[in-house]
Formats: sequence, C-alpha cells, structure tokens
Amino acid sequence: MFSHVDHIGIAVADLAAAKALYGDTFGMPLVHQETLTDFGVRIALFDIGSSHIELLSPLDNDTLVSRFFDKQGPGLHHVAYRVPDVEKTLDQLRGSGIKLIDDHPRRGIRGSRVAFLHPKAVGGVLTEIVEYPESLQSDSNIT
Ligand code: CO
Repeated sequence: MFSHVDHIGIAVADLAAAKALYGDTFGMPLVHQETLTDFGVRIALFDIGSSHIELLSPLDNDTLVSRFFDKQGPGLHHVAYRVPDVEKTLDQLRGSGIKLIDDHPRRGIRGSRVAFLHPKAVGGVLTEIVEYPESLQSDSNIT
C-alpha cells in the first residue's frame, strides 16, 4: 500500500532554532519552506536520504497542529507514507475500516495531495499519506 516513508513530522516551538539544529548541526539540506494556512503551520522540509524531516511550527489559530501542540508540546508529530494515488489509498483504507481524519485529500506542501489517518486507528500514531505531483515524481531522489 505504501512505497516509502516520505517524512517524519516534528512539531517545534522555535523554528529558527530547529532549522539551525537540523540544517547546520545535523547537516541536512533545507529543500523547501511553506506556510499552509489550512493546517495552521509554517513548514521547513529537509532532505535525509530519499526521505525528509518536516519541521512544523504552529501558527496562532485552532488547527490540527496547534491543538496537538497545546496538548503535547514539541516533539514527534506524524509519520507520512508515500502513495501513488491518495484517493485510491483512502478508498482502500476506508474499505479496511480504518478511521480517517480526512475523507478527501487536502493540499500539502509542494503541490502534494495529502490525507491523515486517525491516530486511534494506528496505535496512537498520527499517520499521513502523500501523493506527489507529477513535477516531483520525476525527481530521481524520490522515485
Ligand atoms: Co507531513
């Protein structure tokens, strides 16, 4: 069902400090930054092998990430798996009785399509599925 671990999402309190840690100290290349108002986050994406580390800095509003952050503070937030077709995977998951947060895909960073599975259905792990846009699928690093 899933082809890769696409990224690990990490909620951070101080994005600048976290970027310095992952980028400068750990030496991971920063490949993308984007604010997703729908999710209420500022995101910094780092390359690590064929996967990514996604730093999530919550904006000040009531969203999935800010609610998590208020409850649990900074730390591991979600695991994301890459899929070829997010709609199809959602149908398969629904057919398997997996509880979903998103019945329909949302727009993720870099033009991706994403959806979240309910953590209660995955042993307490907030789980995301990601479909890359055509433009990223040709990137040799991620195929
Ligand atoms: Co993510």
